[in-house]
Amino acid sequence: MLQTSRPTVYIETYGCQMNVSDSELMLGRLVESGYESVEQPDGADVILINTCAIREHAEQRVIGRIGEMKSRMKRDAVLGVTGCMAQRLGSQLLDRARHVSLVIGPDGYRDLPALIESARGGVRTTATDFDLEEHYEDFTPRRFDGVKAWIPVQRGCDYKCTYCIVPTTRGPERSRQLAEVVRETEAVVASGISEIVLLGQTVNSYFDGQHDFADLLRAVGGVPGVRRLRFTSPHPNDFSKAVIRAMAETEAYCEHVHLPMQSGSTRTLKRMLRRYTREQYLACVDELRAAIPNVSLTTDVIVGFPGESEADFEETLSAVQAVGFDDAYTFKFSLRDGTPATRLPASDTISDEVASDRLARLIATVRGATRERNLKLLGQRREILVEKSARRGGLLQSRTRDFKVVMIPGDVSLIGKYLTVKLTGTTGSTFLGQVVGQRAELPLAV
Ligand code: 5AD
Ligand code: SF4
Repeated sequence: MLQTSRPTVYIETYGCQMNVSDSELMLGRLVESGYESVEQPDGADVILINTCAIREHAEQRVIGRIGEMKSRMKRDAVLGVTGCMAQRLGSQLLDRARHVSLVIGPDGYRDLPALIESARGGVRTTATDFDLEEHYEDFTPRRFDGVKAWIPVQRGCDYKCTYCIVPTTRGPERSRQLAEVVRETEAVVASGISEIVLLGQTVNSYFDGQHDFADLLRAVGGVPGVRRLRFTSPHPNDFSKAVIRAMAETEAYCEHVHLPMQSGSTRTLKRMLRRYTREQYLACVDELRAAIPNVSLTTDVIVGFPGESEADFEETLSAVQAVGFDDAYTFKFSLRDGTPATRLPASDTISDEVASDRLARLIATVRGATRERNLKLLGQRREILVEKSARRGGLLQSRTRDFKVVMIPGDVSLIGKYLTVKLTGTTGSTFLGQVVGQRAELPLAV
């Protein structure tokens, strides 16, 4: 019997949720053009590595992985590097790795099927032009997560934080039309997903020429069947009164804000060009807490930014304690070529030893604060949405509206369900929950 099999594609994703969302778009595009998605690179006809450039470490991992593919990929496979590192290094990647035949930046995915075709014919291509109109509106993403949907609403970034490579790799900020975002939300709900996460580099600066982020929150939150609404990541300066009011008044909006602080020292914030002071950041926290009772707050913090003194760092520690974050992602500063921080005097450089020591102290402070907050929640009831099987212990992993991870016993049939649990234990960061009620599924209005 004659067998006609479809070409296969394997995509590996590094970095932030925006990259995951881009991989979903690329995969959707390729499946539509006849490719079959596979879970392993070995034997795949096309291998795409969707990369991150935010820290040196992220790039080193990718370089290692590209090297590894040389022996794993089949002889006639096409290996493509996409995303932020592709944008940053461009054709250098082709020069450095002969087995890579495509280098495609975040605005170049539209031509992916054609570029792969020519790569099969031996043509090696770099596609790193920005396209300020590009939102991939006509792509149907192939979603990796069946419980929540990531919806990009904005691409690029117009802030120029001095440590950050993103404005270079993802280009200027642009927003999708509100009607398009609503249309995608409706399609997602029709597919059975009721949690939406709106994505953008500074998502709350969203403006489509007519509508701002407050309008967007109300419109998406108003789509029948949307039960949970989140967004990531905002910039503290873009929490206008209207946005905060929309968050408070939109029922589906979950009581959690990821609010990148980066530093608690006004002096360092200024050198980072974050455009707010410690006091303004703390005032933003107060406003959010006043509008949304019991809102949980998570953050990003960088230590060892050039010129950060011990006193500056202690201000970061005291800000972490003053806010009482529910969690924090903590990073050692990594100097990226092409960022304004490279122009700071070499004498400002913080040694790795000092930076590592600060990172350890920061992590200890964050853990202490998180633990204290979480212990106080024991005994409380929460609505959870079951997300997936936990990695250990035969448990399921779920999330509360306020973004706490709760492990519960149960089988995979509960994935995607809303339940009520009592929080019975905590490791300090995650919880153990006892199911006390099964909430009826809301009818999905389509
Ligand atoms: N070094 C360390 N951390 C960085 N981040 C961004 N750029 C750098 C860098 N050069 C962190 C910021 C940002 C998060 C996504 O990554 O905290 O919010
Ligand atoms: Fe980078 Fe700053 Fe833009 Fe965030 S706001 S992506 S940290 S430049």
